[in-house]
Amino acid sequence: MEYRKLGRTGLKVSEFCMGTMQFGWTADEETSFEVLNAAYEAGINFIDTADIYSRWVEGNPGGVSEEIVGKWIKKFDIPRENLVIATKVRGQMSDDPNDQGLSRQHIMKAVEDSLRRLQIDYIDLYQSHSYDPDVEIQETMRAFDDLVHQGKVRYLGCSNYPAWRLMEAMWESERDELYRYECIQPHYNLVHRAEFERELADVCSKYGVGVIPYSPLAGGFLTGKYKKGGDIPAGTRGEMSGRVQGHMIDKNWDLLELVENMGQEKGGYSVSQMSLGWLLSDPLITSPIIGPKNIKQFKDNIGAVGLRLSEDEKARLDEASDWTK
Ligand SMILES: NC(=O)c1ccc[n+]([C@@H]2O[C@H](COP(=O)([O-])OP(=O)(O)OC[C@H]3O[C@@H](n4cnc5c(N)ncnc54)[C@H](OP(=O)(O)O)[C@@H]3O)[C@@H](O)[C@H]2O)c1
Repeated sequence: MEYRKLGRTGLKVSEFCMGTMQFGWTADEETSFEVLNAAYEAGINFIDTADIYSRWVEGNPGGVSEEIVGKWIKKFDIPRENLVIATKVRGQMSDDPNDQGLSRQHIMKAVEDSLRRLQIDYIDLYQSHSYDPDVEIQETMRAFDDLVHQGKVRYLGCSNYPAWRLMEAMWESERDELYRYECIQPHYNLVHRAEFERELADVCSKYGVGVIPYSPLAGGFLTGKYKKGGDIPAGTRGEMSGRVQGHMIDKNWDLLELVENMGQEKGGYSVSQMSLGWLLSDPLITSPIIGPKNIKQFKDNIGAVGLRLSEDEKARLDEASDWTK
């Protein structure tokens, strides 16, 4: 397992981050513990969660993923200092109009709720889950800066930000000498490239912002388990997510075939491992966030650790998934 600096900070994170959106949703608590233990044993020190996970599921109050991570740390006596715990704020946590967003009011409440659910006394990486058009960036960055000074948070990050908002935030932090966003969590994978590559990639490269992409397997599409013209397998994300079904177009079926062939040529890597390898081979990427919902999927995903594509292999996949044409 390689450990990489998170952007320009001195913090070292594993080449994979363990995502936890599926915990308490498509993975029950026991399975979540199993996956977390396997990740920790494999050398993953970086865990990503969010307060909102997974409030979109009927009967789920939100905060469940954070609670599972907190219980795991206690139950298995995991040394806190060995972990880099990332969580997020922004989502609507109740019907109260102030229980959402990136206002000072909500951030100050949400951080306490996350700390309690995670059963820890500081968060390593606190992230804005997405852009909040109702709040001036100065209000958000000042509240975050206060949390770093209070020792409740160590580093700041954002997710789903457009490039202009990230630039605005960094400009604000520099002008007022506040702690800044040190990494971004974009939606980025072989079949969803434009959103990150159009403008954000240049911002991250120029200003040393770490990049931790989410949905590196396009919600499971890049595993090869969906087949052209075939039924959507039962119990998969594809059954419940329009986003996964949106990837089912001719260009992407051709890409999957190429990825599969290249994986075989390279010595038997799966479609998912090659897709993760494409991200791991990009020097701009710090740590893709994987989201296996059971041990079998975890074992497949973790098999990509250390996988690096040659320049030629990378170029072939870049070309086949080119979004600029
Ligand atoms: N910031 C944000 O807005 C945001 C948004 C989304 C995710 N995230 C973070 O990123 C993490 C990963 O996102 P993601 O879950 O979308 O990642 P992903 O890697 O694109 O998709 C993971 C899903 O793909 C399927 N899968 C994975 N490996 C497989 C295998 N070997 N064989 C068959 N199916 C396999 C499983 O779903 P099924 O078996 O159910 O099909 C699994 O839950 C999340 O846990 C969360 O921490 C952040």
